[in-house]
Amino acid sequence: MNPATPEVRRHRDADEVGRAAAEETVAVARQAVEARGRFFVALSGGSTPRRLYELLAESPYRERIRWSEVEFFWSDERAVDPDHPASNFRRAREALLQKVGVPPERIHRVQAERADLDAAAREYQRELARVFGVLEDGPPPRFDLVLLGMGADGHTASLFPRTLALREPLRWVVPSRAPVDPRDRLTFTLPLIDRARCVLFLVIGADKAAVLAEVLEGARDPERLPSQGVDPTDGRLLWLVDEAAASRLRLGAA
Ligand code: 6PG
Repeated sequence: MNPATPEVRRHRDADEVGRAAAEETVAVARQAVEARGRFFVALSGGSTPRRLYELLAESPYRERIRWSEVEFFWSDERAVDPDHPASNFRRAREALLQKVGVPPERIHRVQAERADLDAAAREYQRELARVFGVLEDGPPPRFDLVLLGMGADGHTASLFPRTLALREPLRWVVPSRAPVDPRDRLTFTLPLIDRARCVLFLVIGADKAAVLAEVLEGARDPERLPSQGVDPTDGRLLWLVDEAAASRLRLGAA
């Protein structure tokens, strides 16, 4: 089945991408809380989302989200302690969570520091099922928003090219191996990501230009370009990219 045509919006620079992402996040959060009383979000890792997290912690965005009604998860995590500089949890805690007073019970950290990563993945799936109020061995729950980044090799979350994690058909969270340190990870799988109501990719920087053009406009090859494998079955797929990352796209300039 051909994937839904993704919506791609080009912005001048990283700050504008961050602002556009903050607007989208606030809008999705408001819709979710009005419709279902809570906003379920999966934060992404790496460096790209930092500006988004900083903006959400400041006016005017800070006041536009009721933080006690947000359930925070992570779409992937590195197998490091939560205070390690490479921890995606630490990055989000420093840039956002500790600034806006999120109740601890709303923060669902991946325990990726555990020695047994498969057990940690199964525990995270159990936590997802508990918080969403669904059966652990049933269909994946529906996030209101899954934030994703993309590596220069086309990976997303910690779904790397030609890996078992990328092909996982049933589990919602699995261990994975990265080609770069920190190598051991835990990641959402495509079955979970694709159930989201909205998937938002943030991509900035000239180093992503070649792969972004391949992912969005090249031949379909999700095994080689995992970001192409993201195809929400009943949800919105939105790419917010800066001009540097978009420089190789045939798409019209903003
Ligand atoms: C991670 C991320 C990963 C990231 C991309 C882009 O844990 O590393 O989840 O998928 O989004 O590698 O990373 P940058 O934003 O640092 O370029």
